[in-house]
Amino acid sequence: MLLESHTRLVQASYRKIAGNIFELSGIFYRKLFEKDPRLRFLFPEDLGSVQDHLLQMIATAVRQIDRFEEVRHHLENLGARHAVYGVVPKDYETFMAAVMDTLSDQLDPQRDQELLKAWEAFFTLVSETMQEGGRNAPAIC
Ligand code: HEM
Repeated sequence: MLLESHTRLVQASYRKIAGNIFELSGIFYRKLFEKDPRLRFLFPEDLGSVQDHLLQMIATAVRQIDRFEEVRHHLENLGARHAVYGVVPKDYETFMAAVMDTLSDQLDPQRDQELLKAWEAFFTLVSETMQEGGRNAPAIC
């Protein structure tokens, strides 16, 4: 569960960056593939539709983060599908590092320390829930 203060920070911050989200997502994928070029081969050549889905999923999770139990099941199913795509736990660490680098570049690491912590807590919760779904993949798929 997220602290209430983190939930509020993430939701307010998301509203601010939402207009920029497509551009941020492009930066994020560049960083992800720089960190681990092998990950590029997991994705289709045209990243467009994956990018759309990912952004929708993040928007939904941010909107519903204060009612997390309502999205838990979707995230577990998403994690189970990721296990089928070939995503392993270490890839979630790389994913998190690329997300946090992308956000740090947009924010002021001194002034926005608490906000960065809030985003990290949000993505950690989403990633851990997906990985739980991944561990139970055969039961869910
Ligand atoms: C917070 C963590 C993540 C979220 C919210 C997320 C979300 C999504 C969503 C919504 C899709 C669209 C397809 C579907 O719904 O099944 C997708 C596809 C995909 N994701 Fe993720 N993802 C996350 C982490 C990762 C990680 C760590 C990897 C591995 C590097 C990864 C690799 C992929 C791949 C390869 C596809 C596309 C498969 C295809 O269309 O062929 N994702 N992701």
